[in-house]
Amino acid sequence: MLKISENYSLLNHNTFHLEAYSRYFIEYSDEDELKEALKLPIVRNNKVLHIGSGSNLLFTSDYNGVVLHSAIRGIDIIDENHESVSIRVGAGEIWDDVVAYCVATNLYGAENLSLIPGETGAAAVQNIGAYGVELKDIIEAVEVVDIDNGVQKVFSNADCKYAYRNSVFKTELKDKYIISRVVLKLSKKPQLNLDYGNIKDSLPKTEEVDLSTVRQTIISIRESKLPNPNLVGNAGSFFMNPYVTVEKYNTLKHKFPQIPCYPVSDELVKVPAAWLIEQCGWKGKSFGNAAVHDKQCLVIINKGGATASEIVELSVQIRFTVKEQFDIELIPEVIFL
Ligand code: EPU
Repeated sequence: MLKISENYSLLNHNTFHLEAYSRYFIEYSDEDELKEALKLPIVRNNKVLHIGSGSNLLFTSDYNGVVLHSAIRGIDIIDENHESVSIRVGAGEIWDDVVAYCVATNLYGAENLSLIPGETGAAAVQNIGAYGVELKDIIEAVEVVDIDNGVQKVFSNADCKYAYRNSVFKTELKDKYIISRVVLKLSKKPQLNLDYGNIKDSLPKTEEVDLSTVRQTIISIRESKLPNPNLVGNAGSFFMNPYVTVEKYNTLKHKFPQIPCYPVSDELVKVPAAWLIEQCGWKGKSFGNAAVHDKQCLVIINKGGATASEIVELSVQIRFTVKEQFDIELIPEVIFL
């Protein structure tokens, strides 16, 4: 049955732990209920926001519309051969539970995405990524429901036009479809991605490296740098890592010889935003009750009782100083509402 609430507190639906209310909140548990919800006058006559667990959202005020949330759960094997297994996952499944399932059943591909907060549907909108892997690398298809007419459709991986923290669902088809389920293709054959940063150095030297050691290592690296959103309000990386031209990077390197980069193409490199922010002196700095995390400068935390405007103001100041010092525009990864 559809769960419909009015004046609903979003405190447990945003990992910044900000107090905000939505005029209506509707939770559905399968595609039929979602279609029923989409026909309701309150949904047709109000603005609509679909959320996962709010791990990438900043509510700057109450939401004067309908917030929709998926409780579509389940992980089912839908295809299998000697090399791979395809699983169909409900959009409302907690992403890290999906990774845990893959690791427990000896399926390769999701392990580097361990402990990323959020739900599977939102993960597929955002193309979450970490430690050299992006969700697009294992997505086979995405099942959606058309918001206008309730028609179900399947998008192939290519249809989703995935890019760094981006997809068709954030651009040309924004607010047109709701993701109901995600089909992932995982490998039965051992293949581990251990090339990113310090993964290899962090692996235990004594044991054989298997899926569960990689998962544990990724979890330990994340726990050592990133604040646990259940304890300290935050939304992971606040900004995206900016792309700059090789030409601009070379000019910057002249002035700042230590500036790191990751190659993207012949013309572009990615510069770690955390490095730029740290160079501007922001590490551990506060504005009111909002602060730059002292172990990862890309993360803004709510020290307790922060207001949305303190978080916004801190982010504006960070962008200003990075622009001034490096002539680089930081683009928030977090969505402001
Ligand atoms: N660095 C600093 N200061 C810091 C932190 C990092 O100078 O305080 C520099 C270092 O040179 C380091 C480099 O930045 O080598 C990269 O740092 P890190 O490996 O922590 O990754 P990141 O680029 O800051 C990205 C993702 C994270 C993901 C990690 C690991 C984005 C926006 N963020 O961060 O994703 O966990 O890589 O793969 O691409 C998220 O999106 O919420 C998120 C946490």
